Amino acid sequence: MSALHSEHLTPAAYEVARVRQAFPILAQRIYGKPLVYLDSAATSQKPQAVIEAMSRFFLEENANVHRGVHYLAERATQAYEQARAKVRHFLNAEQAEEIVFVRGTTEAVNLVAQTYGKSQLQAGDEVLISAMEHHSNLVPWQMLCEQTGARLRVAPIDDVGTLRLDELERLIGPRTKLVAVSHVSNVLGTLNPIRRIVELAHARGAAVLVDGAQAVPHLRVDVRALGCDFYALSGHKMYGPTGIGVLYGRRELLEAMPPYQGGGDMILSVSFAKTLYAKPPQRFEAGTPNMAGAIGLGAAIDFLGELGLEAIAAHEQDVLAYAQQALAAVPGLRLIGTAQGKVGVLSFVLEGIHPHDIGTILDREGIAIRTGHHCAQPLMQRFGVAATARASLGCYSSVQDIDALLAGLARVRELFK
Ligand code: ALA
Repeated sequence: MSALHSEHLTPAAYEVARVRQAFPILAQRIYGKPLVYLDSAATSQKPQAVIEAMSRFFLEENANVHRGVHYLAERATQAYEQARAKVRHFLNAEQAEEIVFVRGTTEAVNLVAQTYGKSQLQAGDEVLISAMEHHSNLVPWQMLCEQTGARLRVAPIDDVGTLRLDELERLIGPRTKLVAVSHVSNVLGTLNPIRRIVELAHARGAAVLVDGAQAVPHLRVDVRALGCDFYALSGHKMYGPTGIGVLYGRRELLEAMPPYQGGGDMILSVSFAKTLYAKPPQRFEAGTPNMAGAIGLGAAIDFLGELGLEAIAAHEQDVLAYAQQALAAVPGLRLIGTAQGKVGVLSFVLEGIHPHDIGTILDREGIAIRTGHHCAQPLMQRFGVAATARASLGCYSSVQDIDALLAGLARVRELFK
């Protein structure tokens, strides 16, 4: 049982050392050095409770869902649907039918593009995204525009990485059918004002999809308070497993959408002449789903609930403030993305040193960061860089991790003197 399994931690009692004990992988040494994991925006580590929930499923419950009358089939179906209920509660969606299990955020966005988008958009219509989108919330819309003759428009950001709301508002026109924005940028950490974006879009009759992959591990998300039409997330960035994610969609929109993929479990009846489709969410879950993944995601939601998202957010903000101040003092270091109210993602470049060299040298110190374009090439162009180094925080990150990063960067600068 995880160290956090039995007790609820209040913000005042947040003990990062105890939180870390829940993640077995963090106890490792890498090249003889303690692991400093600062790559949670790429994928978070998994707590013991998630690992155990998934192995328990395979050890005790495994059977196909929605298909059998035998004991294990019933039990697996119950566990899978319980996970859906946990996601509903986690996002404060009105109904479990609004929760579709998918592979991850990328699949969720593609699903909306190829069903809602393809059935609603015509030549000359517009999809509006922002300049900070990563490829998952950009390429599916480009594909849709190629298929339909619609036009992709891009709302700019300013030099600190804040979305230009005035420009976004100006770009929402009579032909805008959909606005697709990230809740939190994976490169900049910028937290976008989704409620306001939804108001602006809805006032002009456009639907809103929110890419929440980088938001859900860091802040409480309430899809009804946000008012968005679609919300996408990935399990693996919120301490759950890979290969499972969620598309939340407002029920009336999901009900009007054609299926995404055809196959088993998404039908009401099939004949060679005609197939009738199931209602959402089954309509969008063709084939045997990732049952263990959904159950693991449910365990991750329990874990986040035990820790408390407010407590996590407060802790991460402390570490972020410490890191921002410390990194700003490193000679030749430029932080990219310094918007007010940002979350724990620190992208930077070091004058005269390629980010891949930074990443490789830090790796030998046991420090894991991500380097490259972070699947956001247009955003790199916006800031005039080919790549950045990126340290990203999770609930287990500590000021000691930041101190290790600073020592590692001093070593990088020493080697490049
Ligand atoms: N989107 C993930 C990242 O930012 C993979 O690293």
